[in-house]
Amino acid sequence: MKDELFSVAGQVVLVSGASRGIGRALAEAFVRRGATVVITGRERATLEAAAKEIGAKPVVCDIADASAIERLVKGVLGEHGRVDTLLNVAGVNRRKRVEKYTEADYDFIVDVNMKGPFLLSTAVGRAMLERGKGSQINITSLNNDKPLRGVAPYAMSKAGMGQMTRALALEWGPRGVRVNSIAPGFILTDLTQKLWSQPVMKDWGVSNTPLRRLGEPKDLIGAAVFLASEAAAFMTGQALFVDGGFLSGYAWPIDLDA
Ligand code: NAI
Repeated sequence: MKDELFSVAGQVVLVSGASRGIGRALAEAFVRRGATVVITGRERATLEAAAKEIGAKPVVCDIADASAIERLVKGVLGEHGRVDTLLNVAGVNRRKRVEKYTEADYDFIVDVNMKGPFLLSTAVGRAMLERGKGSQINITSLNNDKPLRGVAPYAMSKAGMGQMTRALALEWGPRGVRVNSIAPGFILTDLTQKLWSQPVMKDWGVSNTPLRRLGEPKDLIGAAVFLASEAAAFMTGQALFVDGGFLSGYAWPIDLDA
């Protein structure tokens, strides 16, 4: 049986930060399922190469630049007439002791992870509200709930994005627009490769994850397609934690066979 419930075919999908990593994997997944996908990133050459490889349409846009976001949304609406699903994926991180962050570090992280997504969500949201239809998916993080040590501004920005998800869901639900988030666990990408290549980190991550491995970008496809589809028609304001079970409890090293 062809299952229309989970179909995203024919949708116009906009993915921020999709030249690599999670954004690229999600963009490709929507292309493969018959959606028209517009991807954004900062560098034209890498973005265009990624777009060509996965069959998406590239639009250069620095998510920290308000006027670039305005141009992006105007262009996409002009060319495609609508956005059915927006995926806010672009994100950055810098790890430091909290007292060592500079104002420039703070602005860099918060502008990309929180301010830009807010501007993009509201710009796309205005058009979705006019149609009375649309779905937005924000990629938050485990830091949506409790912070990991050493990433304070990142954790703050992701918690802010979680709150934005709920606030927009609350305001836009009555007008037909759904807003949800996906909180990935530890996913191997360029952003995290160096961290997880340290054996002590990998051992900690794997032994504290009930499904006993770190994640890959493709692990997030199911949740994203589900949230974008009719199958999630009665879901808004939710966070789906795709983390191999990491947040389900504490894997204390007690010997159960002793
Ligand atoms: P990545 O570094 O591989 O990819 C980030 C993407 O965002 C790239 O395509 C990059 O070009 C784009 N980007 C960065 N700054 C941008 C800007 N100013 N304007 C436009 N695009 C920009 O990272 P990854 O791992 O794929 O992360 C994607 C998202 O998932 C981020 O929001 C990240 O915080 C989040 N995330 C990642 C996790 C992981 O373990 N990898 C875990 C939880 C959340």
